[in-house]
Amino acid sequence: AQSSSTHKVNEKRSIGKEKYANFDWDNLGFSLTPTDYMYIMKSNKDGNFSKGSLTPYGTFEISPAAAVLNYGQGLFEGLKAYRKEDGRIQLFRVEENANRMKMGAERLLMPSPSVEEFVNAVKQTVLANKRWVPPYGKGSLYIRPLLMGSGGVLGIGPAPECTFLIFTSPIGIWYKDGSKPKSLLIEDGLSRAAPGGTGGVKSITNYAPVFEAVNEAKAKGFTDVLFLDAATGKYIEEVSSCNVFIVKGNIISTPGIQGTILPGITRKSVIELALDFGYQVEERSIPVEDVIEADEVFCTGTAVGISPVSSITYKNKRAEFSVGEGTMTEKLRQTITGIQNGVVDDKFGWTC
Ligand code: COI
Repeated sequence: AQSSSTHKVNEKRSIGKEKYANFDWDNLGFSLTPTDYMYIMKSNKDGNFSKGSLTPYGTFEISPAAAVLNYGQGLFEGLKAYRKEDGRIQLFRVEENANRMKMGAERLLMPSPSVEEFVNAVKQTVLANKRWVPPYGKGSLYIRPLLMGSGGVLGIGPAPECTFLIFTSPIGIWYKDGSKPKSLLIEDGLSRAAPGGTGGVKSITNYAPVFEAVNEAKAKGFTDVLFLDAATGKYIEEVSSCNVFIVKGNIISTPGIQGTILPGITRKSVIELALDFGYQVEERSIPVEDVIEADEVFCTGTAVGISPVSSITYKNKRAEFSVGEGTMTEKLRQTITGIQNGVVDDKFGWTC
């Protein structure tokens, strides 16, 4: 992959003229490749945002006393722009990201952009970086909106000024082993989210606490970690950065949204699609025993898409699941990715 040091963001000569950036599109992973522009919009003391604008991607100034740096007052979103076969670009359920950011902003006492401001900002940012949307079938442009308390504070409390920022990066597939199924380790020591905490919103503070468990699991040869509920340790909740589903017979189950589960947009789309296919869908507390007995397990998220899980290890016992052709996971995966890439008819109106 091209490194950030060799990519000149101010290379105005070619920006906007060439269809694709000069890049090795066949070797995209899930790593940061800077693109040309980012979008910035700031709120004033009354919580109103000024008009946002595009600016060359790069570092920006922030107060050392910013609430985001000192107290973690920050949210992020993740969505993707997809290149269709005809070369046109489309977004998937962008209003859902706007609404989720609003919900998180309420929890963290920040003003948030309106849905219209959010969607317009995303569209402007994608258009400004369109040469970085990978060719059809090679990946997508990952879009990362942030909302942060950028104003300085000393005592604990919300920042007087917030910054909404969007940057992008072309990506291929999340896991290095491509579409190969995942092997998960159930973590029964560290927790991801506690009742009454921020697990149900996309707070930046939900992510660093999973690094330790994920690193340890990877060192043991697993792909990722499945966390249990912090209160009882009996029920599955989430993988480090994505939601989880189990399939048993004709029933698809996933942990319900009750404060510690992130309301994933791929999660929501899978539920809607599964119901449309005529499957039974349950949102409920799922004991570890149900997972061990499942026919299939899969993860969902913007970054991971729909990722089949081939095994889960708990207390040194390994359970294995069906993956690949003929599975319900595969049917859901092909339909959702087909809608996202524009090769399956979008009867739900999810793309724009
Ligand atoms: C996403 O799927 O967009 C996420 O938020 C996961 C992220 C930690 C890469």
